[in-house]
Amino acid sequence: MDKLVIEGGIPLKGEVEISGSKNACLPIMAATLLTDDKCVIHNVPHLKDVDTTIKILSSLGVRVKKEDKTLIREEGKYTGVTASYDIVSTMRASICVLGPLLAKKKEARVSFPGGCVIGPRPIDLHLKGLKALGTDIRIDGGYIIARAKQLRGANIYLGGHFGSSVLATANVLMAATLARGETFIHNAACEPEIADLANFLIKMGAKIEGYSTPTIRVTGVKSLHGAEHEVTPDRIEAGTYMLAAAITNGDLYLKGANPGHLIAVIDKMRESNCYIKKINLGIRAKRDKKNIKSVAVTTLPYPGFPTDMQAQMMSLMCIANGISVITEKIYPERFIHISELNRMGSHILLEGPNAIIKGVDSLSGAHVMASDLRASAALVLAGLIARGKTEVHRIYHLDRGYEALEKKLVKVGARIKRVKE
Ligand code: EPU
Repeated sequence: MDKLVIEGGIPLKGEVEISGSKNACLPIMAATLLTDDKCVIHNVPHLKDVDTTIKILSSLGVRVKKEDKTLIREEGKYTGVTASYDIVSTMRASICVLGPLLAKKKEARVSFPGGCVIGPRPIDLHLKGLKALGTDIRIDGGYIIARAKQLRGANIYLGGHFGSSVLATANVLMAATLARGETFIHNAACEPEIADLANFLIKMGAKIEGYSTPTIRVTGVKSLHGAEHEVTPDRIEAGTYMLAAAITNGDLYLKGANPGHLIAVIDKMRESNCYIKKINLGIRAKRDKKNIKSVAVTTLPYPGFPTDMQAQMMSLMCIANGISVITEKIYPERFIHISELNRMGSHILLEGPNAIIKGVDSLSGAHVMASDLRASAALVLAGLIARGKTEVHRIYHLDRGYEALEKKLVKVGARIKRVKE
């Protein structure tokens, strides 16, 4: 296993190129199961989760190859309908092969994804939506076994206890493209990753209206054809580097970042004394004033503040003037980074889903353990400003979602290296 060793204290300056979005790319790759034609997807990041999705597609009999940042799904029929436990258990997003398999093959066997360190992650909304389209679903031996003679369009309310669901929307949307008749998905997720998926499906011949709004209308078609698509830039990666600029008191230009996808993050960063500006085809981020100001942040479905930026924002608040409160409304247990940040000298108290952060002047380097993808990024941000050396262990999480993280950071001045444990 690798670890990252960081010597903190360097203001990051220069340009970082933002990669294609992980969370847009994975459902788009799954959507290629809806056709037997060739699909070409550009701007695909080099990430462990992408490799895992390639493994799933290959295990189903789909021929896939990746040439640099372009993924080619070759023309040809596939016969597999099972996504097995050994692959699915390593990546929750594997669940998004369920909808397309069902639509194309009329049956699917997908291992139950289970919970993870960010808290319970149920799939009731996925199953509810697919059942409404006429699917017979049972759970057997840890597998979701889904069958449908003919999917039929339906009126589906997809809201849950914590609001809309991104991947449930993706699954039902993909299945509905080949259903007979019209489907309305109410309380659909409005995340840019869903819009990117919808755009790809439309290129494949799907009839979809209203995406990026809470009601998506899908008119089923008989078949979908191949398509070529470029994946949208990763807003969470961009947001993480915006915070890297602010926390280190540096100045970064994030090439390719889309400020339109980051409105809530930009708003909160500006409130905390950061300067964020759209420049050419990207974003410039730095501090506006010497000191970071404490702010109150609540995570919410898009366009609210993303849960995937909560941990990284907390790192910035660790060194803000005053007391900030971060409330997690999507995954109320997504706080494992708190104990690790406190090891570095921060003062964070957890009260239910509210983290109360009393800003300190500085953090000090320590051994810390990465627990999930975004928590790992938060620890790296903290390490970049900590006095002395920080060692972030178990960084395989980072490789799931941040392309070439340490290379990008080194290029803008960070002292960070990957070391074998
Ligand atoms: N939920 C249910 N029932 C369901 C599905 C979800 O109650 O059937 C709940 C969840 O427990 C959570 C809320 O609904 O409280 C939202 O979860 P959602 O379904 O939107 O999450 P997801 O689609 O499984 C995606 C991202 C996550 C991101 C969330 C929220 C991908 C591959 N994953 O997950 O990304 O946190 O949306 O925005 O798109 C990450 O990249 O680090 C990551 C965890």
